[in-house]
Amino acid sequence: MIHPHTRLAHIGEPIGFGVVATRPIPKGTIVWVRDPLDQRIPRDQARSLGPLFRDALRHYTFWEVERGDLILCWDHARYVNHSCEANCLGGGFEFEIAVRDIEPGEELTDDYATFGYASELPCQCGAPTCRGLVKRSDAMEMGPVWDARLIAAMARLSAVEQPLWPLVEDKARVDQALRDPRKTPLHRVA
Ligand SMILES: C[S@@+](CC[C@H](N)C(=O)[O-])C[C@H]1O[C@@H](n2cnc3c(N)ncnc32)[C@H](O)[C@@H]1O
Ligand SMILES: [Zn+2]
Repeated sequence: MIHPHTRLAHIGEPIGFGVVATRPIPKGTIVWVRDPLDQRIPRDQARSLGPLFRDALRHYTFWEVERGDLILCWDHARYVNHSCEANCLGGGFEFEIAVRDIEPGEELTDDYATFGYASELPCQCGAPTCRGLVKRSDAMEMGPVWDARLIAAMARLSAVEQPLWPLVEDKARVDQALRDPRKTPLHRVA
């Protein structure tokens, strides 16, 4: 589920739609958590669905690294775009967190290389640090940068409002990472 203080918005061409904040979302806020309505599609089932589904699956799903299933979000979370200067990052807790303060009207963005986005993406994010082509192997260079941002944001987890906290399944694991940041799942090339 995407954070309640967000909405779907048309960003422009060629990127299309995206997700923007409707109120300030401070650094450390959980902005998305996998929830029971998100669809988990086993890899074999995805293949057997055939060509009519291929483009939609490639566009709107990501691979869950641990089990290898495809995840299709049921709400406007599936419209979050990529930026090479993403303001939200995931860390293997089945949630994404704001890694800097996000202003009302600002777009929420992920780094698609941090999770199993199905294909390489020629990027048009416009960030000065744009990598041009987004691919899984970016994690080799970017991993330490993402980890530092994620750990700094995690440190603010209990200092900010967390409307999505009730949906976090493995709270004990998050608490453990808060006590010892080395327990934060870090980004590696999968
Ligand atoms: C999960 S969808 C995001 C929603 C999408 N913008 C839409 O309107 O349906 C992922 C797709 O959005 C587009 N996209 C997202 N971030 C982009 C970026 N930084 N540069 C170019 N295209 C992007 C690509 O077409 C990508 O396959
Ligand atoms: Zn980019």
